[in-house]
This record gives sequence, C-alpha cells and structure tokens, in this order.
Amino acid sequence: MDKKQPIGVFDSGVGGLTVLRNFIKSFPEEDFLYVGDTLYCPYGTKTKEQIENRVEAIIHYFEEQQVKAIVIACNTATANSYHIKSQIPILRIIEPAAQAALEVSKHIGVLATNYTIDSKAYDVFLKDKMMGVRCSSFVDIVEKGDLQTKNSYEVVKKTLKPLENKVDTIILGCTHFGLLLPEIQEALPNVNIIDSSNCLSPVLKKYLEENHLKNHQQQGTITITCTGNPKDIQMDWFQFPYQGVYQVVIER
Ligand code: DGL
Repeated sequence: MDKKQPIGVFDSGVGGLTVLRNFIKSFPEEDFLYVGDTLYCPYGTKTKEQIENRVEAIIHYFEEQQVKAIVIACNTATANSYHIKSQIPILRIIEPAAQAALEVSKHIGVLATNYTIDSKAYDVFLKDKMMGVRCSSFVDIVEKGDLQTKNSYEVVKKTLKPLENKVDTIILGCTHFGLLLPEIQEALPNVNIIDSSNCLSPVLKKYLEENHLKNHQQQGTITITCTGNPKDIQMDWFQFPYQGVYQVVIER
C-alpha cells in the first residue's frame, strides 16, 4: 500500500456524497475516487443476492484501481458486506454509528432502508435498545431531489410517527437521510440525531495514521463517477469544487 494511492468511496447513489463531503473537509490532501451505483439504485428494496453482486462488483473495481482503502459509505451495502474478503482494507459505516448512539442513549430509533432494518445489522450492536423504522421511501425522495417540499415533509412525518415519544435519540442509518434533516427534525423535534455519514471520518483518520498512509501532497483530487446516467447524480447541494469525471465505470 502506498500513501499516494486514492481512497475508494461508494454508495448506491448520492447518499455517500455526504460522507465524501466530510472527508474532503477533514482530509484535503487525499485523492478520492467516488462511485455512485446509480444504475442499480436503490439498494434498500433489492434482494440479498442483488446487493451482494453489486457490492462485490464495486469492490472488485476498486481493487483494479488500486485504492489504499475502500469506504462503504452505505449502510445497506455494509449490511451485506461482512462476508467479503479483499486484500484492501474495507471501512464500514454501521458499527461506528451504533457506538456513537450508545454513548448517549438506551432508547434509540434507527431510520434505515428496508433491507438494513430487515437484515438486523444494527440490532447486532444495539440489541433491545433500538426501534427500527423501514424508510426506503426517503431514498426515492432524495434521489429525485424532492427536498423540502410538501410531499417530503408529509412522507417523513407519516413514516416516523411510530417513534414519537418512544426514543430520545435517532440514527440516520442511511447516508441519504442527512439531506432530509429539516423534514426529520420537524417530525421528531427534541431528539439527538446521529448521522451515520458523520461517523466515518474518525475511522478513516485512525486507519491512515496507524498504517502511515497519509498523503502529504498540497491538494487532493476528487473523481466522481456513476454507473448510470450522469444526470442521476444531483449535486446542487454538494457545495465543493470537484473534478466531476462522469462516466460508466462498471460493466452492466
Ligand atoms: N445510502 C444507502 C444507505 O446508506 C442506501 C440507499 C438505497 O440505495 O436504498 O443505506
């Protein structure tokens, strides 16, 4: 492994860009290669086998690109990644988010895709301290860029109703959901919010430091690719200068 190699980050679509945005702030000297698997988005309503195939294909792509770490910036993919072996270290999102919530509460609501909730990947860490809500409908709203509209407020409020007065902390257990923060805050005021997208920077920092893999160049590059139509990646909210290299990178 070499300091100069890029770091691979992926999600089914735009959600993982919330993780990438944090990385760019914390690690401006690193090169990042982001893949949004938009052709197969959403993951959260697909079968185990379908998700497994996509996760394996993208990890294989990152191996070919010789990245120095693979960051799964997607809870759904993480829930279906524990069996994968790679010669490149894989950094996952679920455990750090669960641990951050356990530090502040014993009554935790987990908002995640249908697949993540059904897989019980959060239950492994949170056990009887959690109440999960299947929120795959939120992913469609975010991918369409239908943010802060009458519809988005209504869907979020209705879906989160079962958590009202039951939890004091919620985990945004899908990297898309940070983009629905105003809607979620209105539906569940006065709860602590742990966004899984914010939990990976300390994990990456530790990995780079412990393995002496920090890049020392002045300014890193960001390459953003997707498997579907470039227009699938709605980036108006991203607010960082980026070198967008839109192309189909993985065989359909
Ligand atoms: N952003 C993803 C996650 O963190 C999944 C969204 C989807 O494709 O369903 O779970």
